[in-house]
Amino acid sequence: MKISVLGMGYVGLSNATMLSTKYDVICHDIDESKLESIEKRRSPIKDKLISEFSRTKK
Ligand SMILES: NC(=O)c1ccc[n+]([C@@H]2O[C@H](COP(=O)([O-])OP(=O)(O)OC[C@H]3O[C@@H](n4cnc5c(N)ncnc54)[C@H](O)[C@@H]3O)[C@@H](O)[C@H]2O)c1
Repeated sequence: MKISVLGMGYVGLSNATMLSTKYDVICHDIDESKLESIEKRRSPIKDKLISEFSRTKK
């Protein structure tokens, strides 16, 4: 199943991260720089667990 998440802020990115452990997630945001960070596996928000997940999980 593919799931789209709109808004890569604290709410959206947290949910997208959790959902990505089980589903294909497509991230959307009007702020291109946030999507670029996610592409590079860098969290665009300050969150220890999301940053760790982005660095370590495939
Ligand atoms: N953070 C909370 O604890 C909390 C609690 C209850 C409700 N909310 C609500 O949830 C929503 C998100 O909160 P947040 O803390 O994640 O905010 P945030 O500012 O961290 O993130 C919002 C993201 O949405 C993006 N965005 C704005 N308009 C967009 C559009 N048209 N299409 C795609 N992306 C768009 C922004 O660029 C930003 O990255 C807000 O409406 C907020 O009021 C948040």
